Amino acid sequence: MPFPKGFLWGGAVAAHQLEGGWKEGGKGISVADVMTVGGPGKPREITDGVLPGKVYPNHDAIDFYHRYKEDIALLAEMGFKCFRTSIAWTRIFPNGDETEPNEEGLKFYDDLFDTMHAYGMEPVITLSHFEMPYHLVTEYGGWRNRKLVDFFVRFAVTVFKRYKDKVKYWMTFNEINNQRDVDTPFTAFTNSGVLYQPGEDRHEVLYQVAHHEFLASAKAVIEGHKINPDFQIGCMMAMSPVYPETCKPMDQIAALKEMDKTFYFADVQCRGHYPSYILKEWENKGYHIKMEPDDLAVLEQGCVDYFALSYYMSFVRAYDEQTDSFKEVPNPFVKASDWGWQIDPVGLRYMLDVLAERYELPMMIVENGIGLHEQPDETGLVQDDERINYFAAHIAEMKKAIELDGVTLMGYCPWGPIDLVSASTGEMEKRYGFIYVDKNNKGEGTLSRKPKKSFYWYKKVIASNGEDL
Ligand code: BG6
Repeated sequence: MPFPKGFLWGGAVAAHQLEGGWKEGGKGISVADVMTVGGPGKPREITDGVLPGKVYPNHDAIDFYHRYKEDIALLAEMGFKCFRTSIAWTRIFPNGDETEPNEEGLKFYDDLFDTMHAYGMEPVITLSHFEMPYHLVTEYGGWRNRKLVDFFVRFAVTVFKRYKDKVKYWMTFNEINNQRDVDTPFTAFTNSGVLYQPGEDRHEVLYQVAHHEFLASAKAVIEGHKINPDFQIGCMMAMSPVYPETCKPMDQIAALKEMDKTFYFADVQCRGHYPSYILKEWENKGYHIKMEPDDLAVLEQGCVDYFALSYYMSFVRAYDEQTDSFKEVPNPFVKASDWGWQIDPVGLRYMLDVLAERYELPMMIVENGIGLHEQPDETGLVQDDERINYFAAHIAEMKKAIELDGVTLMGYCPWGPIDLVSASTGEMEKRYGFIYVDKNNKGEGTLSRKPKKSFYWYKKVIASNGEDL
């Protein structure tokens, strides 16, 4: 039997993508609250505060804030052993720089975690998932500012203490490596509340910002273990393998260099020090990343306990002789989703193997899934065979990673078990769920919930501990 007893089958969401209630219970405005709806090829707009006449899909999302009891009951019906969500920082510290937390926000998560436990569901909690307080952007410049380290650690310690007997599995920063793509304003803003200024060297800014986040993460790990030594606190990376286009040696370098942009984040959080390829880049480019004397020791002491990853797709890179540069090329051997995400189940096994060999840590897949355009049929059921096939193929590859390659996997949380707001596009109609939610991109709909065909399929998968695909 490949999946161990106690394997954490579940699903994953983030507070801002489903809770709604953006102004309720004393909640402050988050970065997600100032992003409009976009679509394929139409990026979300980051507005200067909340402006009249704009559509902000995260404000109401799917109203989980009021409906969580009903929703958790549906997830429990599928047999969920765990449920990954995030604690909206703005419910606990509405502006981010207060010294005292907001009791109403803390109480909300007490109730949510109690509801999960009533069904035997283990909470798996992200501290920062694309929803930091907007006030920290406007007043401090986001994670450019070292003051955020203390604000974040205060937030982390507050929730660690409050939920020390309710939550065991934590993650510090969701997909911290997304911001490696410095050309997309969305990633710098959602990861770190950073708006790049004209003329600045974005990579140098990125390295400074990430240094602050590494410190905050390491301090959270150190403090968390003091509060409860049983805590498991992980990093969380978006992992997409990058293949070389051909066996030309320079194509190998193209792929390796692209992977390094992600490995750098994981190397610091898992190994506790900066890798030599990054230190050399700083030296070559004349970057000066500001650090205080103890910083490197803190990174060393605050290594994570496990490796959490999301997995959606793979990429291909090639060396372009004409321009002496590296470029992305499509993979002719895999298909892509309507949003251009290249579907590659074998890439999941490959990625798990590479990570197991590099870091020797237990792993948890905390996101995996496919966004689809979907409509209920005449009987009201969404026949999402494409999703079933997608998951069956990925789970089969996970099995191989465990059985054939010796990978230690703690759990599997497909993304968006209930339809929710897409992070990158703000659409409702990029659907991931096992449960259909009646709401469209314009914000219209009854918000009613209805299991899709995949709901019954995933229930069977969990009941058979991954045997019956
Ligand atoms: C990950 C994020 O990038 O992928 C989630 O952690 C996100 O927040 C998920 O929703 C799927 O991406 P998208 O853009 O399709 O919602």
